Amino acid sequence: MSHDGAAALLEVRVTSKDHVTAGGRPQRVLQDLQFTLPMGRAGAVVGPSGCGKTTLLRLIAGLDAQYEGAIRLPAGGRLGMVFQEPRLLPWRSVVDNLRIAAPQAREETIAALLMRLGLAEHAGHFPGELSLGLARRVALARALAIEPDLLLMDEPFVSLDAMLARELRGEIAALIDERRVTTLIVTHDIREAIELADRVFLLSTRPARVFTTLEIATPRRALTKAAADALQSEAEAAIEAMRAHGGMRA
Ligand SMILES: Nc1ncnc2c1ncn2[C@@H]1O[C@H](COP(=O)(O)OP(=O)(O)O)[C@@H](O)[C@H]1O
Ligand SMILES: [Mg+2]
Repeated sequence: MSHDGAAALLEVRVTSKDHVTAGGRPQRVLQDLQFTLPMGRAGAVVGPSGCGKTTLLRLIAGLDAQYEGAIRLPAGGRLGMVFQEPRLLPWRSVVDNLRIAAPQAREETIAALLMRLGLAEHAGHFPGELSLGLARRVALARALAIEPDLLLMDEPFVSLDAMLARELRGEIAALIDERRVTTLIVTHDIREAIELADRVFLLSTRPARVFTTLEIATPRRALTKAAADALQSEAEAAIEAMRAHGGMRA
């Protein structure tokens, strides 16, 4: 584990987390999973489907307290969460979804956010009238409306077609840079993680731990294709090596 001392905004140390299977047996999902993410940085947690990524996000968000370990957020830290399913209030318009989530936000702030995310013309629409891509944008706008100190996103691009996903990814990258909001994105896509994050945490097979951390030194906008390719190869080699050891701890 790298140490950022007191500067670390997010400090995650999960000694163990178990789920109970349908058969009633405990299943170890996370074990000795540790990482830190400095303030204002974007981190990405990458791992295969079913390895425990959503479980981890729920622990960080405080939605599940049944685990061993410690997770430190800044005192009074405000959390913005974008779930994999947008979870909007169905009988409220887009703009009302934002107002209800962030009652203290000024009308101009909300209008500016909707504009920034290309949602201005949808302000009066209801969630059922939106495509998944638009609903994801609304969920992101809603999370940003509360001016979070930590933004958590669970697979924000999953089930979007490639072009929409790339577009939204570019906008999220720009927003992170612009607002300097500490962000943790969960994804199963290494390339996506490399293009979005300053720090990429690779999760092992279950029970998941962070077995490699990639530091993306280049400013996001300056990351060349060659540099991204090299990082991707490095990540893939590390995953190969981890699998060759059957996910065993070094
Ligand atoms: N509430 C739950 N009860 C029992 N098992 C669960 C629960 N949530 C997740 N699991 C199991 O824990 C493992 C990790 O799930 P999850 O965190 O959703 O993975 P990921 O988000 O990486 O796809 C899976 O085997 C899943 O079936
Ligand atoms: Mg998940």
